[in-house]
Order: sequence, then C-alpha cells, then structure tokens
Amino acid sequence: MKRFAVTALALLASTAAVTGARAETVVITAARMLDVASGKLIDKPMIVAVDGRITQVGRQGELADSSKIDRRIDLGALTILPGLIDMHVHLSSDPTLSGMQALRYPASFWTVLGVAMAKRTIDAGFTTVRNVGAADYADLGLKMAIERGSIPGPRIVPATYAIGATGGHCDSNELPAAYVFDRPGIADGPDGVRQKVRELHRRGAEVIKYCATGGVFSIGTSVGAQQYSQSEMNALVEEAHMLGMKVAAHAHGNNGIKAAIRAGVDTVEHVSFADAEAFDLAKKAGTWFSMDIYNDDYILAEGAKNGVPEASLAKEREVGLKQRQTFQAAWKAGVKMVFGSDAGVYPHGDNGRQFAKMVEWGMAPADAIRAATVKAAEALGREADVGQIAVGRYADIIAVAGDPTADVNLLRDIKAVVKGGALVKDAR
Ligand code: ARG
Repeated sequence: MKRFAVTALALLASTAAVTGARAETVVITAARMLDVASGKLIDKPMIVAVDGRITQVGRQGELADSSKIDRRIDLGALTILPGLIDMHVHLSSDPTLSGMQALRYPASFWTVLGVAMAKRTIDAGFTTVRNVGAADYADLGLKMAIERGSIPGPRIVPATYAIGATGGHCDSNELPAAYVFDRPGIADGPDGVRQKVRELHRRGAEVIKYCATGGVFSIGTSVGAQQYSQSEMNALVEEAHMLGMKVAAHAHGNNGIKAAIRAGVDTVEHVSFADAEAFDLAKKAGTWFSMDIYNDDYILAEGAKNGVPEASLAKEREVGLKQRQTFQAAWKAGVKMVFGSDAGVYPHGDNGRQFAKMVEWGMAPADAIRAATVKAAEALGREADVGQIAVGRYADIIAVAGDPTADVNLLRDIKAVVKGGALVKDAR
C-alpha cells in the first residue's frame, strides 16, 4: 500500500514535469530597496523570481538574460522592502463587535469576516501573519482558501484555538454560570494540555498559543494572575516542541511571564509587567517578546463605543502605560523583539500604526522594521522563505513612497504589494 502511494506520487510529479507549464520568471524593479538586515538603502534594485521564489537579487542591468523574462513589475520611483510579518493577529475578530454583542453572531459570520480582514491585512503590506487564536478553526479555512488562490490574503501560520485553563483568559467567563459552554481550547493538568496540543496539531495547527495569565478582554480574570502551573507549562511546551511547533504564551503578569520563559516558550505576548529578572531569563533562553503597544490608544479611545465592558477598560488603564514602559526597558536591556500588533483588538489594516509607537518608545526605525521582517522570520523558524528579499525566499515585496527608516509612518501607506511574485495591490 505504502509502495503504491509512493509510486503514484512519483507518477504525478513526472506527469507535471512533462505536461506542466514552464517555470515563470518575473523581474521586479524599483528606485530603491531597503536591505532590512543591514538597514542600508540600495539604488536601482532588481529582483528575479521564478515560480514565486527569489533566484537573484542585484542591481538593474547586472542580472538575467532578458529573453527568459515572462513578466516585469516596475515599481517606478518607490522604495521596496520585504513583505511585513505580524506575529499576533486574530483575523476572525472585529474590535467594533466587542463584549456580549459578539454572541449574536454564528460561527460562519466570523469566518466570512476573516475573508475581508485577510484582504485588509495584505493590502496593509503584511504578507505573513501568525494567527494566535481563532474559534472554529477559522484560520485554517482562511489559510487554505488563500493558498489555493481563492481569496487574497497573507501567508498564515495558524494556532487554531488558544489553549487555556478552565476559568482562565481563554474560557467563556462572560456568560452566566448556567450558560457556560465548553471551549474546545480548554485543558487542565500536564496530561490535559499535552493531549490538547496533540489534538490541535492533528487538526492543522502550526503554532501553539496558550494563556499563561489573565488578560484585559476576559471577564473575571485578574490581568496579572498566573493561570497555568509551571508543570502544566513545561508539559505543554515540551509536547509542542516534540511535534515541531513553536509556542506563543499570552502573559501580562510577571510570574506567568517567568514561568513561560522557564518552560521554554518561543515568544511571550503582551509582557506588560515583566521585571529585570524576566528580561535576564528571556535573554538567556533566547525568548522573543511580542508586545502590542499600539493597542492602548485604540482601546481607550474606542472601547466603550465598541462595547468593551467597563471592567476590561479598567484593566486596560492598569496595563497600557506600564506595558510601554516595559517595552522600552526590555529593549534597552537587550531582549529580542518581534512585531505583534494583536490586530482584531484594533482594526485590521491598521497594523502598521504600531511602528511609530515602537520608535516613540525607544527603538530605532530600522530595528522596528527588522522586528516585522528578519527577526519575525527567525522567531517563526521561517528564515528559509519569508522576512527578507533574499535568494530562496518568496518574492514577498512591498513598496512605499520614501525611506521608511527616515519615517516609519510611510509603512501606514503601502503603495504596492507583491506576494509570491504576483502584484496583488497597486495603489500608485
Ligand atoms: N488580548 C489582550 C488581552 O485581552 C489585549 C491587550 C491589549 N492591551 C494592551 N495594552 N496591549 O489581554
């Protein structure tokens, strides 16, 4: 049986080689390119991509035999850089439907909404996202539809359900006790969390997200309180790593942050109340921080109107400024940072607004851009295919009207987006 399957596959492959279309060669040019790794601008770049992957990067006039070019994408006077990566989004969430009103909408609504949000996200220049929590496996459906080319959208690294403790940040605490329902992501005890990791992996999760502490938007949780024991976190992370998946821990409180780092998570999300000891632990373990420091402005301005309960707004007032101060201190202390916006809590498509906050709170513009490109790819374990304009990686390229290291707000106005060598947005 196994041998038959192998033969059938080989047959399919060879048929494609005989009848399949010839490789397509695309050449992309622009006035300038930001090399994100060095932070340097390169004049008159030219990138060659074959079947969506970059095969050459150089200067115009230096490369390729023009007879082999199938398509040219000339981005004129613009400056190009790699497609951006957001490490923390919820494509199937809408910030304007916060609180109990969300319960009026069926599962299908949120998935359909995700279709529109995926388009906004890629139009904003984010060609890869890590979706860290979606009900009903909405992120898997979106990913499949995007990969087939049925709908536009970014490359998605799906977590499916966020795993969490009974009564914790990821549970359905907003409901009166008599109406509480079982959330598929809930698991308790070392064995329980292991089993949950296996189950989500079997379903198609590519990263594991879990809630290590309380949060702002959950009802009845203290934002700083740890919600899994050290032994539960150890088991969860060990299991996920065994299966080849990275782990993202939602954690605001200091004890939960430290326990997550000690358990070996790859990224800590939010990280609001981390202290100097937590920074040291993260540096030693190589743990990344993913801090959504734009959020506070939006939540405090729009939250009440959007239906966010007062209890959550009160928690936000506790967290907002502190999180930004922690971001500044952690970066200064040398903790590795990636760009994670928590879009879904604020409007999809506005992801790029966070760059200016990161700069305001102590990062050089080039570092903020690295956090959303090379560094994010490293944290994803995806240096082979995303995060840089380099040979072997996808031709995921965005264009802005100037030097983004001089003004990061140029990243709020993306003029063109190329994904896998195809021009998917052209707003020139
Ligand atoms: N999903 C997060 C939570 O509920 C959002 C936190 C937003 N606030 C902030 N200051 N980053 O905890």
